[in-house]
Amino acid sequence: MKVLAIDSSCDDTSVAVVEKKNNRIEIISNIVSSQIKIHAPYGGVYPMLAKREHQRNLSLVLTRALKQAKLLKILNPKSEILNKFKIQNSKYKTLKKILQRDEVLLEKTIKFLEKYEKPTVDAIAITNTPGLEPCLWQGVNFAKALAFWWGLPIIPVNHIKAHLAANWLWKEPSRFKGRSHSVPFPAIGLVASGGHTELIYMPKTGQYKLVGSTRDDAAGECFDKTARILGLPYPGGPALANLARTKLQTINHKLLTNLPRPMIKSKNFDFSFSGLKTAVLYNFQSQKKSIRESQDYKIYMAKEIQQSIVDVLINKTLKAASAYKAKSIITGGGVMANQELRRQFKIKNKKLKIPFFVPEKRLCMDNAAMVATCALLNKPKIINWQKIKVNGNLNI
Ligand code: KG4
Ligand code: ZN
Repeated sequence: MKVLAIDSSCDDTSVAVVEKKNNRIEIISNIVSSQIKIHAPYGGVYPMLAKREHQRNLSLVLTRALKQAKLLKILNPKSEILNKFKIQNSKYKTLKKILQRDEVLLEKTIKFLEKYEKPTVDAIAITNTPGLEPCLWQGVNFAKALAFWWGLPIIPVNHIKAHLAANWLWKEPSRFKGRSHSVPFPAIGLVASGGHTELIYMPKTGQYKLVGSTRDDAAGECFDKTARILGLPYPGGPALANLARTKLQTINHKLLTNLPRPMIKSKNFDFSFSGLKTAVLYNFQSQKKSIRESQDYKIYMAKEIQQSIVDVLINKTLKAASAYKAKSIITGGGVMANQELRRQFKIKNKKLKIPFFVPEKRLCMDNAAMVATCALLNKPKIINWQKIKVNGNLNI
């Protein structure tokens, strides 16, 4: 089964083609168009700008993904005329109705559909929850238009489940010892991203139970906001992680304040990161200008912030794994691209003697291949394009 997948839940426009063959789920193409440069001046994602960019980019990214998958075929002129003749007004009318609120997207979609043949895929997978609603709608309406025009079914996908599903993508056995494809259950999943920090219990494939989540800021949000306090560029996570890798030149003992590890000892599996952000802000404000603007201060704080988030995420995940007698730990989300977090997770997890899974870095970040994988993993919930809904807030 071959699935074309689309993700537009936040600030990345992504389209992928993924195939399931003999129980292997393989990426055929996976294109991600990042909007980092557009949002950087605002220091965070600006939803209406993100929506506008999705409108402009969706058909372009689709073209690139199909081309890479060798599924992009120009309609031959004869069939094009025939097609236009056959399509009649009613088909265009429905298309216009689906995209009535998105003029730019409508224009670009019509151009695309008139130029290219229906690709040989079996279904369209689309993220419909959770995320920024104006952004989710762009992808969903685009997917609806394609599904209607090509007569394909739609598989709605939850973005958080998709982050975990990235662990099921085929990896070459020589590099990964071939063990990533059989995740032992029950499993504990951790999704740490810009919008979510969640611990999920999975008794078997396709079954999810939320056991803990953040009460305020997400881990990625904390990386981004504290980086901003230190004057680092957006997105703060990678910028802060880079700085944390730098060696301290001189250690000024006045700076050596340990930051809190919020809720690390609490009995439940919830998280809270806003207190850490506030502690960073107070520390920053209490320093003399000459100190807080020094490179050493920023390096020290970057190391300490990162370690605080790493400690909390690892500690709580291992605790949940023990409490739920998990036979494996699976992780995902943009924060899991953090090198130090990956390294320390692998070491600390050894105590539990259960396998630990993390997707390769580019697959931790938002991408449509994980959405397709999620659609292919279980018995896909295939629906007609008319029935799809959007929910910005739904968790797992
Ligand atoms: O999963 P993702 O791409 O988008 C969401 O679904 O939110 O995650 C983006 C988040 C951002 O907050 C970003 O700063 C963070 O992941 N991130 C990192 C790193 N790379 C991305 N955080 C820490 N270290 C990194 N290397
Ligand atoms: Zn995400």
